[in-house]
Amino acid sequence: MRSRDLLERSLKAVWHPCTQMKAHERFPLVPIERGRGAWLYDFDGRRYLDAVSSWWVNVLGHAHPRINAALREQLERLEHVMLAGFTHEPVVELSERLGSLTGLGHCFYASDGASAVEIALKMSFHYWRNRGRPQKRRYVALAGGYHGETLGALAVTDVPLFRDAYAALLRPGDTVPSPDWRAVEPGESALEHAIRRASDLESHLEKNHGETAALIVEPLVQCAAGMAMYHPEYLRRARQLCEHYEVHLIADEIAVGCGRTGTFLACDQAPVLPDFLCLSKGLSGGYLPLSVVLTTERVYQAFYDDEPARGFLHSHSYTGNPLACRAALATLAVFEEERVLERNRVTARALTDKARGIASHPRARHWRNTGMIWAFDVDTQDPSFARRFQAAALERELLLRPLGRTVYFMPPYVIGTAEIELLVDRTVALLDELA
Ligand SMILES: Cc1ncc(COP(=O)(O)O)c(C=O)c1O
Repeated sequence: MRSRDLLERSLKAVWHPCTQMKAHERFPLVPIERGRGAWLYDFDGRRYLDAVSSWWVNVLGHAHPRINAALREQLERLEHVMLAGFTHEPVVELSERLGSLTGLGHCFYASDGASAVEIALKMSFHYWRNRGRPQKRRYVALAGGYHGETLGALAVTDVPLFRDAYAALLRPGDTVPSPDWRAVEPGESALEHAIRRASDLESHLEKNHGETAALIVEPLVQCAAGMAMYHPEYLRRARQLCEHYEVHLIADEIAVGCGRTGTFLACDQAPVLPDFLCLSKGLSGGYLPLSVVLTTERVYQAFYDDEPARGFLHSHSYTGNPLACRAALATLAVFEEERVLERNRVTARALTDKARGIASHPRARHWRNTGMIWAFDVDTQDPSFARRFQAAALERELLLRPLGRTVYFMPPYVIGTAEIELLVDRTVALLDELA
């Protein structure tokens, strides 16, 4: 029983993330030995369909042969070198590639999503300071938004469960109402709702733009808020308003970038070009910690100076790690050569067609889809619904992790027809049984 043994050792030695450890008395950890494609396997021959892409990072499936090969090759040449004062091939190639994919540049790297958000927030403030406007030091974010859990990122996050315990440590931030279309008024379309919410943003910026450095948004889908989806018109108007009121637009595409919403960037659907773009998660194919902030020439030039303190003196030890950059380059090569975005359109249609039984289920509300994300809210009063659903899903070979009452699918893009059928049929059975 290697699974049982590992589980017990893990509970003694590892403090697991985002977990009340006592809950594992009732809901056991799941030891995983290996992964392949959309599946994870434990030590005892059980398998789980990774319908949440291992916290939304795995885009091309586990143990992808091309990413594995690229990493093996890189490993023989250079595993790591500091990026201050040095450079290397993978980081240069990746930066050039990301520049041409996004229309932005000057890639600044870190390891995780929260660090990328910290970088964008700091760079925005520092830009205004270098431009002689140090009073621009506030940030505005969308209600329900999530941007990570380090103190700066948490200050622009609006999820009480993660925030409340640390409220005394956080700089006060501003929030404006979310354009989440579930909150439409009777008779109002998602587009009209987005326009109304953009006018709330306008009122806020009109009053506060003199002190506001940046607006930070998760474009199109606020994932941690329960896959709250909104019309791209909101982004288009937000971009115009930010331009008009001289406020930066930070697009946090850590969860929604790399094809997740149907286009390479969610911003492409507006289309808008932000002042700062944060990418992570799927960027390395879900293999290695890697995040990046891209920005504009205008921002870069505000730091370019003889005076060291006008530069951006921020660093992380593993910034631009060659292995992580190589994994990202292999991921982007697969995107292009195997036409991943086109293939995803076919996969998305198949899943949406198959899922009609969920959309019309008497317990399901607000069935929604953007690209390779599907979600619905469950009509239940059970406060432990998420836990119970997750445990019952595992018994049916599904890795699903509801956010409160919201069940969502965010599978690796390699999910096939048989797996889609299994996912949907078993989710319907879970709904019949548990909701
Ligand atoms: C939109 C968004 N921003 C930032 C983060 C934080 O990323 P990380 O967990 O890598 O710090 C997340 C993580 O889920 C996210 O969804």
